[in-house]
Amino acid sequence: MAVLLTGGAGYIGSHICIELLQAGMDVVVIDNFSNSKPEAVRRVQQITGKKYPVYHEDLRDRAAVEKIFAENTIDCVIHLAGSKAVGESVQKPILYYDNNLVSTLVLCDVMRDYGCKKIIFSSSATVYGAPEQVPVTEETPVSADTTPYGKTKLFIEYMLQDIAKSDPDWSVILLRYFNPIGAHASGLIGEDPAGIPNNLMPFVTQVAAGKLEKLSVFGTDYDTPDGTCVRDFIHVVDLAQGHVKSIAKAMENSGVFIYNLGTGKGYSVQQLVDAFQQANDIEIPYQYAPRRKGDIAQIYADCSKAQRELGWQAQHDLFEMCRDSWNWQKKNPQGLA
Ligand code: UD1
Repeated sequence: MAVLLTGGAGYIGSHICIELLQAGMDVVVIDNFSNSKPEAVRRVQQITGKKYPVYHEDLRDRAAVEKIFAENTIDCVIHLAGSKAVGESVQKPILYYDNNLVSTLVLCDVMRDYGCKKIIFSSSATVYGAPEQVPVTEETPVSADTTPYGKTKLFIEYMLQDIAKSDPDWSVILLRYFNPIGAHASGLIGEDPAGIPNNLMPFVTQVAAGKLEKLSVFGTDYDTPDGTCVRDFIHVVDLAQGHVKSIAKAMENSGVFIYNLGTGKGYSVQQLVDAFQQANDIEIPYQYAPRRKGDIAQIYADCSKAQRELGWQAQHDLFEMCRDSWNWQKKNPQGLA
């Protein structure tokens, strides 16, 4: 059983590689290393004691993708590759549509040619936009009232659903991630964003490491219990295990299946900062700042469908997420070499 991970050297991809290898599966990675480093692959191989092929190629390069399928018998694809900086997508929509959509079309076309019709897509809670009610279920309406980044997630969901409709052999699993944080317990791999982090947890850990001076908490006047935004933070190892379960589902079924991957619990930005300080006995200098454009007040998942149909449930609590995020950053103050 061999699984191709596109973007398999990234933060989420490298954690998935570990879980798949430890579950006895073979792994093949394609990554253009635009937002990841070869060192992540080396660390995964160190943790698991297993080696696997890594293609340093761009998914938009059809010949390169064909070569991977010609050289390996791929049973299932986990499609993670894509640009993901929300703000940048507003500035550079052509880049985002080209990189995220064209790559997916090339991938699916080659998959079909090689008779590999099982794909698990890394979608996002961003497809729900600003939901009228929380928690959101998979039936909650999706919204295209979002950034180019968010639209690429939604468009890819639609593309894959149309492909599945055209040919009953396809199995498409759309995983809507909430807010992945945390790191592998070894502290050898974790989130290592290039430049100044856009997301909350890497910003917090870099403040804790002294790389950044102070956290800004964006918005204190939201309609939430403490006025700061509420999110469903999920440990990246739990998220990775959700993919192991999804592979079993994809191999045994055809059609389209959509799952929320979160914990089902909402915590505020303030609660996360407090939990981080308590879990790690460390002080995070922070200040309150105006709202960040485009943020929604609150979102968290109803994950009962994934529990029912995949037999999956997040295991780690917020304390463990904060502990593991800091363990990673503390051991790697400059990130991956
Ligand atoms: C963001 C994206 C989402 C994407 C996800 C993963 C937006 C609107 N959404 O989710 O589409 O799938 O990242 O890349 O950008 N915060 C601070 N200070 C900071 C950073 C963040 O207070 O320095 C707050 C934010 O205002 C937000 C919360 O922390 O309320 C979480 O932010 P973030 O980690 O960026 O995730 P999302 O915005 O939920």
